[in-house]
Amino acid sequence: MILGSGRAPGKVILFGEHAVVYGRPALAVPVTQVQAEAVVEPGERGAGLTIVATDLGETITVRDAPADHPLAAVARLTLVKFGLRDPDWRVTIRSTIPIASGMGSGAAVSAAIVRALAAAWGQGSGVRGQEVAISPEEISALVYEVERLHHGTPSGIDNTVVVYGQPVYFVRGQPPQTFHIGRPFMLAIADTGIHSPTKIAVGDVRRAWEREGTRFERLFDQVTTIVEDARLAIADGQPDRLGLLMNRNHALLQEIGVSCPELDALVAAARGAGALGAKLSGGGRGGNMIALVTADSASRVAKALVAAGAVRVIVTEVADGI
Ligand code: PMV
Repeated sequence: MILGSGRAPGKVILFGEHAVVYGRPALAVPVTQVQAEAVVEPGERGAGLTIVATDLGETITVRDAPADHPLAAVARLTLVKFGLRDPDWRVTIRSTIPIASGMGSGAAVSAAIVRALAAAWGQGSGVRGQEVAISPEEISALVYEVERLHHGTPSGIDNTVVVYGQPVYFVRGQPPQTFHIGRPFMLAIADTGIHSPTKIAVGDVRRAWEREGTRFERLFDQVTTIVEDARLAIADGQPDRLGLLMNRNHALLQEIGVSCPELDALVAAARGAGALGAKLSGGGRGGNMIALVTADSASRVAKALVAAGAVRVIVTEVADGI
């Protein structure tokens, strides 16, 4: 018997990475093709809340798990929120979002757990059918708490995008703004296979900015113009305009010093195969790149990306709704 379930999509940063650390805006969008899902069922009597992470092959008894265990932490925070005491429930998690690749996997799994527990609580407490057991703001805040355990001072962009399932216009220190996608568009997301901790790239940019403040501030200002144009293009239903903006943003990221030969090769391959534009996405120096494709060019671009060294390519439609 299923007591409750919840899901959340992955995300990619579309424009504005790195500049966002210096107070400029960034845009991130949900990637609904990959999802995290949590399902709550009755567990063994007296066992308390148990989490089964299918993909990790891990089973966690929440009451015995360390304080900083991310899955246990989100479950505990949610139980406290609802005034629940360790119910005998089993939460099973499945996720198709690649782990540790800048696609928001951790935040999406957390969001799915909160939603599933909220749904189960809604049934048990007799408020079934009462849709709003917990608001997106509250879910996002809980997920942010868990993200902080791992990333120190996350910007908050991940939890917002995966919880709302909408594009987010994000400026550090300001409430994130969601907005609608005027017309769906398609992205190919390719992974270089190079694991590159965001922290290191961010630290290198900081040192370069300390040396050459004026030049970097100017680069970040140019990124701002791109982000503002892109936001309008997405909201107005003119996604074709994003291609050129991606190319420009990638050139600026190269100047900022966070691209690498492997990313540049994937970007060139995507453009050569007919993508409308392409850029690195996220921290850079490895990790992912994104290319704007159409139904016609998608498979050609995906093939070219694999031939140019991508270890994984996800083709997804970016559209409203979770
Ligand atoms: O690689 P991701 O998706 O975690 O994105 C990092 C984005 C940066 O702007 C480089 C850092 C940040 O905290 O915003």
